[in-house]
Amino acid sequence: MNNANSKTLHMITWGCQMNVYDSGRMADVLAPLGYAGTDRPDGADMVILNTCHIRDRAAEKVFSELGRLRLLQEQRAAEGGRMILAVAGCVAQAEGAEILARAPYVDIVLGPQTYHKLPEMVARASRAAGAVIETDFPVEQKFDFLPDSMAPQGVTAFLTVQEGCDKFCSFCVVPYTRGAEASRPLGAVMAEARRLVARGAREITLLGQNVNAWHGAGADGRPATLGGLIRALAEIPGLARIRYTTSHPRDMDAELIAAHGEVPALMPFLHLPVQSGSDRILAAMNRRHTAAEYLEIVARLRTARPDIALSSDFIVGHPGETERDFEATMQLIRDVGFAQAFSFKYSPRPGTPAAAATVQVPEAEKDRRLQALQALLREQQAAFNARLAGRTIPVLVTGPGRHGGQIGGRSPWLQPVHAQGPLSLVGEVVEMTITAGHPNSLSATLVEERACA
Ligand code: 5AD
Ligand code: SF4
Repeated sequence: MNNANSKTLHMITWGCQMNVYDSGRMADVLAPLGYAGTDRPDGADMVILNTCHIRDRAAEKVFSELGRLRLLQEQRAAEGGRMILAVAGCVAQAEGAEILARAPYVDIVLGPQTYHKLPEMVARASRAAGAVIETDFPVEQKFDFLPDSMAPQGVTAFLTVQEGCDKFCSFCVVPYTRGAEASRPLGAVMAEARRLVARGAREITLLGQNVNAWHGAGADGRPATLGGLIRALAEIPGLARIRYTTSHPRDMDAELIAAHGEVPALMPFLHLPVQSGSDRILAAMNRRHTAAEYLEIVARLRTARPDIALSSDFIVGHPGETERDFEATMQLIRDVGFAQAFSFKYSPRPGTPAAAATVQVPEAEKDRRLQALQALLREQQAAFNARLAGRTIPVLVTGPGRHGGQIGGRSPWLQPVHAQGPLSLVGEVVEMTITAGHPNSLSATLVEERACA
């Protein structure tokens, strides 16, 4: 409803699913102040740029976006209005002072652990000239102080259960931008999951930079494990599917692997980044596991859940990576057979140990390796999708498809699925027969218009 207090908020979200989740929570926290979402930045009363610092040229991208927003901010001022401009996320955390120095028209800079203080910061920014900056790490407070979300909920939902990372991989900024590992208590996670389900979620993806290191306090106050949390979540009536991301191989414990075999709601798809297949590079990356240990985890997962599909992240061209190291990565990919993957050229992140290495792999070499690696991964993904043709699988219907009369959904292995069907099926898990596996999606037909779960 429009009233004198209604204001518009435009969010620009870059980076991981955790940022998507955080953007939603920032919108929740601002809703009581009268802010309602808008798709357009021009004319908005507030624009939040939720940034990602993980890969190349993060800061430059932020400054060029801010340059564009500044023009809209000036236009707004010329019309007698005011646009509050806020920078959130990991670039804000890492380069807060630099942002205010280079872009003094920014009103608020806030790190990922301070979103619950946003209303106060908005109030201060509205009153004062001069910017407000909050980049402390009071990690335990954030979730305690964020309100319960009342926003409409789709069929699939994200739920952050863990934040931060203590692993200090040589190449990665996350331990510096998101701080130490911290887990939300089991009770808080269960309560949020129940609320999401009550508002229509059928699938929940548990999020954390190191989600399988989750060790939130259980019912008895002692640290619980992710396997235990998944078993507890699986008891929530109406919750059909559970996923979690992103995991570290070192935290893949026996209980979690067993859960894959024993909890039907836990989907048979796991994003388990390996980064490299060379033990030498894995050591240089400070990953603290070998290629053989990774393969062993995959074998145990496949024993527990034979249809499990794997996804991974890869970095090519980490300092010191030779052709032989790269070939070891290619071999690991052939050995595992991935259903999906993300791959990147190594890019030095200031302040990380790998950035200080004196010998960097030449750019042209990184390009060549990335292309070879991506060609192999594309081939594996296409083969995985093609193999599903002719099979009948349960699909969670999430909304309309791209074309008229179509519905869209997700397979157990996270592939997008399209079929002719009625929108009344949204939110249901229905059996579909796959008619074709494309490189990035599946075409299907409904077996019958009756829900099976
Ligand atoms: N260079 C290239 N890729 C990186 N990633 C993280 N840091 C870097 C970097 N400096 C990749 C890793 C990680 C994913 C989220 O981003 O593969 O798993
Ligand atoms: Fe970064 Fe490594 Fe932590 Fe993952 S495990 S967030 S790559 S430091």
